[in-house]
Amino acid sequence: MTKKDNILTDTFGRQHNYLRISLIEKCNLRCTYCMPESGVLLSPKSQLMTTEEVIDITSLFVKHGVTKIRLTGGEPLLRKDFPEIITELSKLPVALSMTTNAILVDRYIEVLKKSALKTINVSLDTLHPEKFNTITKRDQFAKAFDNMNLLLNEGFNVKLNVVLLKDFNDTEIIDFIEFTKDKKIAVRFIEFMPFDGNQWDKSKLVSYQELLRQVATYYSSDALISLPNEDNFTARNFKIQSYEGSFGIISSVTNPFCDVCNRIRLTANGKLKNCLFSTSETDLLTTYRAGIPIEPIIQATLLKKKAVRAGMTDIKDFENTSNHNNRSMITIGG
Ligand code: 5AD
Ligand code: SF4
Repeated sequence: MTKKDNILTDTFGRQHNYLRISLIEKCNLRCTYCMPESGVLLSPKSQLMTTEEVIDITSLFVKHGVTKIRLTGGEPLLRKDFPEIITELSKLPVALSMTTNAILVDRYIEVLKKSALKTINVSLDTLHPEKFNTITKRDQFAKAFDNMNLLLNEGFNVKLNVVLLKDFNDTEIIDFIEFTKDKKIAVRFIEFMPFDGNQWDKSKLVSYQELLRQVATYYSSDALISLPNEDNFTARNFKIQSYEGSFGIISSVTNPFCDVCNRIRLTANGKLKNCLFSTSETDLLTTYRAGIPIEPIIQATLLKKKAVRAGMTDIKDFENTSNHNNRSMITIGG
């Protein structure tokens, strides 16, 4: 398939081979940076993709060049048909991954081991049980922590997602890096991003620069090793000499990666988003259910993709929260 024929190529020549599918809008945690305090309006069940629809629509994307799929939520493991979905998606010629809060990992460990999932991103923002209760509003630290270890012991590549919040967990940056000393784990520090209802404020942001300052104060410059960027990278990666794991920084706010973006997002109710920050969405599911081919509307959605953050090119536009009429993160899935 040439670049030009590919319905997943946008007007900037970016080829979108990475599909992120939100399987469910619900979550068993209530992370304040993700879930609005008032909750979110859930789609009626009839408007959510069924097992078969998830598989069919995903397969169609794979036919058109998707080679990487990430399952997200809400919390993807809350979906009752998770075993069927993962078993079917494992048959596709793609790199499969998932982002989870790990609370239900022990319940599904055998299914996960049999699946094609090799890399699992676990969201864990703190190593302190009380702080975990504060950020997630649920008393489940031990479960999340034990299940993260279970994944490591079972040989999965585990990445830890840590959303940094000023005066909350920025005091744990070094602790998290020390955590990589004897564990083959990749910690990914994420800049706090604005979404509907998450009370984003620039003052709560811990930037890439600030993080590196802390790292440079604690470790000697010889010990800090820069790792090569992956293709279509979103994280700048480092490791501390002789440590088993690594750490990375995802600076979507202060230093976006839009020029190499290869991601498209499918929501649990079958809407296509061409950017994490796009406010317009394309309803694939209704068209699909009407028996009409969805390829033309997928292509049209990609052709509307803006160069940078859904058109919020300037950091000032991005900081202006009135520009953020997006969904809540809980229904986008990261
Ligand atoms: N800013 C940055 N990352 C976020 N996530 C959720 N909300 C935000 C936000 N406001 C990320 C978390 C989680 C994943 C599902 O999405 O890292 O791991
Ligand atoms: Fe749930 Fe993840 Fe959102 Fe937390 S960040 S509320 S664990 S989906």
